[in-house]
Amino acid sequence: MKRRVKLGVLVSGSGSNLQSIIDHIEKGLLDAEIRMIISNNPEAYALVRARKHGIPYTVLEYRDFGTREDFDRKVIEVFNASGVELVIMAGFMRILSPSFLNAFPMRIMNIHPALLPSFPGMHAQKKAFDYGVKFSGCTVHFADDGVDTGPIIIQAIVPLYDHDSDETLAQRILKEEHRIYPKAIQLYAEEKLEVAGRKVRVKDHKQTDPHPLHNPPLVNF
Ligand code: GRF
Repeated sequence: MKRRVKLGVLVSGSGSNLQSIIDHIEKGLLDAEIRMIISNNPEAYALVRARKHGIPYTVLEYRDFGTREDFDRKVIEVFNASGVELVIMAGFMRILSPSFLNAFPMRIMNIHPALLPSFPGMHAQKKAFDYGVKFSGCTVHFADDGVDTGPIIIQAIVPLYDHDSDETLAQRILKEEHRIYPKAIQLYAEEKLEVAGRKVRVKDHKQTDPHPLHNPPLVNF
């Protein structure tokens, strides 16, 4: 039987990335099981999704903890008690403390809705849209002590069109988030990710599409 990586998922909001992970697991495309979901927000729609799929969850509200360290200590305790190996930040709005990073070294993934290192931090889709880039995208990376700075695992490139708004761009990016996050986790489950400094190499990886992209396209040029 295949090894299933044991996930702990951190959420704050809608949880559409959580849903995509659940769907990939249920379809047999992702060798993982979600052992525990933690939300800092009792109203998060992600919790409705957790209930629907019978996945255990815990709500930890910041106001019940004195410091960020106290909050993170509790998260570590809950995840460890659930046997979590890999932590998945799925729309979790909070920077992690050093003790959290040390508890799960190179075992915390985050998704960001831009092509890092461009547009880190909040409102990345709007920042890319306002800047006038021709491509943006999304990035799954291992978390480190910076904001959206850790080693990059996988990225998807998403074009911008003239008729786009920041919202249509965000929707197009989100669709790709839902594809690359489960893929990154599956690569981890298959033990194919090798981290060397900032570089994450994928073992047995075959380059299939080496062609550059252009937007607007270079038709007959
Ligand atoms: C996503 O855009 C993700 O990249 C960002 O927060 C959003 C979370 O969306 N970190 P959801 O809660 O997964 O729907």
